[in-house]
Amino acid sequence: MQNHDMDFGFIDDDSLGLGDTDFENRIVSTSFGVGDETEVSLRPRRMEEYIGQDKAKENLTVYIEAAKMRGDSLDHVLLYGPPGLGKTTLSGIIAAEMGVNLRVTSGPAIEKQGDLAALLTNLNQGDVLFIDEIHRLPRTVEEILYPAMEDFALDIIIGKGPAARSIRIDLPKFTLIGATTRAGQLTTPLRDRFGVLLKLELYTPEQLSEIVKRSASILGIPVSEDGALEIASRSRGTPRIANRLLKRVRDFAMVQGRSEIDEAVAMFALERLEIDELGLDNTDRRMMEAIIQFYGGGPVGLDTLAATIGEEAITIEDVYEPYLMQLGFIQRTPRGRCVTRLAYEHLGLKPPASRQSRDANDQLKFFEEGISDEG
Ligand code: ADE
Repeated sequence: MQNHDMDFGFIDDDSLGLGDTDFENRIVSTSFGVGDETEVSLRPRRMEEYIGQDKAKENLTVYIEAAKMRGDSLDHVLLYGPPGLGKTTLSGIIAAEMGVNLRVTSGPAIEKQGDLAALLTNLNQGDVLFIDEIHRLPRTVEEILYPAMEDFALDIIIGKGPAARSIRIDLPKFTLIGATTRAGQLTTPLRDRFGVLLKLELYTPEQLSEIVKRSASILGIPVSEDGALEIASRSRGTPRIANRLLKRVRDFAMVQGRSEIDEAVAMFALERLEIDELGLDNTDRRMMEAIIQFYGGGPVGLDTLAATIGEEAITIEDVYEPYLMQLGFIQRTPRGRCVTRLAYEHLGLKPPASRQSRDANDQLKFFEEGISDEG
């Protein structure tokens, strides 16, 4: 088991149980990767520095203030939403605002009950334990988490057979912050034990532009207003991608002897990185083209699509689709994934005549039948 006594520093991929898959090597990957370690210094540490997620931020500020007024720990918090939106950052801020320590670990890193017991018994009163990818916590571990969250106690069985006995260990009153990209995969008993549920949304280009300007200023790179917006609008709504693109654009600007990042050098660099004006890379385009080329624009089932483009279904769902759906390029229908007329137009392809009415029909059926997605 690995956990990180968090000074809110670098988290290596392994500690989060992330593998070395192809999508993580994309420049627009949302997973934490090599080269992102300098992002540490870019992370906002206090609530007032944190840009965007206004709803979550406003509510959290109230809960934190109220808990502090009561001299109590903060209720357990579940953060959910697509990767790269700042769940770890936000838990660091929560701990800082509460004036307590933060411990960081992840679902797959906690393999045994003893791993979680070791973590929990080492917490101080009020501390925050952050579990990333909490939906990947082993079931046996999850079971001892219930009394820990509810009664701040651990019930551990020692020994086997007739000699087995249960002992109860009292824990300090702590705050669990769970993060997940898929709230629907949490078991109901676990979800029900969180007092605060916060959904993080993709950022707007304007918010990302503010983040790019803030990061550039920390890194000491002058950036113009339109240079920042150019990077922001190609960052798929994700700060982690915006910061990564900023660093790559800086490389091009430096080599070209520019004194600042302006729109022209940003456009040049992003073109060289094959990231189009909406932030789509080759994999996004390949996925939409595959639906068009092999399945007549869809519908195609998620697993079939995954096999066709050689990606995992879960990666398609968590990483590619949220942004493509936000752009209105992909639709989930009961019969599978479809590309829309907008996607054809973006790819410079002519939509089939029936496309528009089919899109509308599929959507209508979806709402009428109330069938959930097949994926
Ligand atoms: N860096 C990464 N995410 C950020 C955010 N939400 N606000 C400010 N800086 C950030």
